[in-house]
Amino acid sequence: MTSIAVIGVGMGEPDHLSGQAVAALNTVDVFFALDKGAAADELLHLRHDLCRRVITSHPYRFVDVEDPPRDRSAADYGRAVADWIAARAAALGEAIRHELGPDERGGLLVWGDPAFYDSTLRVLDALSDPVDVEVIPGVSSIQMLAAAHRISLTRVGRPVQVTTGRRLAARGFPPDCDDIVVMLDAACAFRDVDHAGVTIYWGAYLGSAHQILISGELAAVADEIAAARAEAKLRRGWVMDTYLLRRGS
Ligand SMILES: C[S@@+](CC[C@H](N)C(=O)[O-])C[C@H]1O[C@@H](n2cnc3c(N)ncnc32)[C@H](O)[C@@H]1O
Repeated sequence: MTSIAVIGVGMGEPDHLSGQAVAALNTVDVFFALDKGAAADELLHLRHDLCRRVITSHPYRFVDVEDPPRDRSAADYGRAVADWIAARAAALGEAIRHELGPDERGGLLVWGDPAFYDSTLRVLDALSDPVDVEVIPGVSSIQMLAAAHRISLTRVGRPVQVTTGRRLAARGFPPDCDDIVVMLDAACAFRDVDHAGVTIYWGAYLGSAHQILISGELAAVADEIAAARAEAKLRRGWVMDTYLLRRGS
């Protein structure tokens, strides 16, 4: 069966790679790249650079896979994502059939860790020809955020919830969890939650030379974060940010 390594590459720096990831990178013949867009171009460049720096013992090549468009205005968000995953699986399956030799191993480099808001494993599950998948974990932006602010995400015996900006905007701060990590928030949903007693730990471009960190009482820093985010996006053309909202002490 075709073998595919799914390798978490952290924030793209060689220092973020585990020994297991470096070893796996050195076994891959063909890396398939599926992303598009301003951030994707820069992140793709980072991945090429990463491979150049850490692959020392194995010839490899990159194959760009045409990323199907995603309907971001669809009323049924779940349906739109399912359609997009199916289209991505069709495109990737086609690339694997045409580009990977019978004795070659494929690889997909995943930003951060494949366990958090990444479609790679679902796309591989949806391939029409099954493949043998090995997953190598990476350092997620979630861990980068906690380390950069020198905090633990979990308070003693308490849970943390990982969620999206879209969900926070739709449902507000969950009543039964006081610590939430928010990703994929292009609309600064933190501005609309009840600020009372809430602390925010925010980070953009985590783990890179461009990293920006702001923390404090949400009421005091919400506008500062929104302005820093807007300014960063204007300057670089894209921004990726993650934050922890913590209610109470
Ligand atoms: C598609 S998800 C991928 C998450 C990734 N698998 C991970 O483990 O970090 C993209 C979201 O991850 C977060 N993210 C990824 N890289 C980041 C970075 N360098 N700094 C801050 N947030 C980041 C942002 O919330 C962004 O919207």
